Amino acid sequence: TTAPVNVTVTGAAGQIGYALLFRIASGQLLGPDTPVRLRLLEIPQAVKAAEGTAMELDDCAFPLLSGIDITDDATAAFDGANVALLVGARPRSKGMERGDLLEANGGIFAPQGRAINAGAADDIRVLVVGNPANTNALIAQAAAPDVPAARFTAMTRLDHNRAVGQLAKKLSVPVTEITKLTIWGNHSATQYPDLYHAEVNGKVAAEQVDEAWLRDTFIPTVAKRGAAIIEARGASSAASAANAAIDHVHDWVNGTPAGDWTSAAIPSDGSYGVPEGLISSFPVVSRGGAWEIVQGLEIDEFSRSRIDASVAELNEEREAVKGLGLL
Ligand code: NAI
Repeated sequence: TTAPVNVTVTGAAGQIGYALLFRIASGQLLGPDTPVRLRLLEIPQAVKAAEGTAMELDDCAFPLLSGIDITDDATAAFDGANVALLVGARPRSKGMERGDLLEANGGIFAPQGRAINAGAADDIRVLVVGNPANTNALIAQAAAPDVPAARFTAMTRLDHNRAVGQLAKKLSVPVTEITKLTIWGNHSATQYPDLYHAEVNGKVAAEQVDEAWLRDTFIPTVAKRGAAIIEARGASSAASAANAAIDHVHDWVNGTPAGDWTSAAIPSDGSYGVPEGLISSFPVVSRGGAWEIVQGLEIDEFSRSRIDASVAELNEEREAVKGLGLL
């Protein structure tokens, strides 16, 4: 029998946590042969709720779940962690300025980065889900200088999956016929879902739809989908966000399928003119347990301007957290 993999989930008592933990425990994160031990990190007021979720996890009698630890102490939560899903974050409240939001999240992600640096396993892989995800990942990474920078990633897989879903619906094709879609840039309204490299049954997606739909309907629908879900459901995306987190880590560990790629926000190596070090979304494949940016794509003028706009926003966020002394 293999030793269990330690999976730490922050914000475990929140809505995404509730949609996520059962799927991890059932084996959907790491596969049907890998036992997992869950480490749940919450703020003190929410520890009791996390204990309630743990009771339900016990009641599922998942064969792969070898144990659950619940704590409000980041050092304990990340000790020996192999996978860390950083879901808990400080949401933007009414009238909150971006600087205040970044500062509040610095107060969460810098200590968590330090705890990861101090105690996580050598193979630690971090996915930041909590918003502003890209910049929170940068803050955690900066606080963990002994961990390879590439182990810090942020989630744009939900945006990716939303884009696949919208395109499949528009063309009345199964989602399985859509490949090579890319989300570029920030997980925010400036993100750029790219159909110029995506394929439908091997043919360029942008040529299967009219340009007005692509620019005026598709892009804003994907970018504003989170707000549309809140409007309809009265609560923000949770099960779909949890699903995307599962997809991201599953592909990171197990590899992406041949002939396709996916989207993830990973530290830039300067590819496609994205300043080095920014945690920006790219077309990526996973090989041997590591993300690689797909190289050599030609970027047309329209795509260039959209990518640049989102990257400029990431740059501003990086400057703002630098100004706060977090980098
Ligand atoms: P939620 O409010 O239901 O749950 C958040 C949980 O985090 C709460 O239980 C809270 O007590 C906990 N928490 C707060 N600070 C913490 C800390 N320092 N340590 C540990 N736990 C802490 O929120 P929900 O719906 O689960 O969303 C979580 C985050 O995910 C939000 O920031 C949201 O904006 C983000 N999100 C990101 C998406 C993406 O595509 N990247 C998609 C959807 C949501």
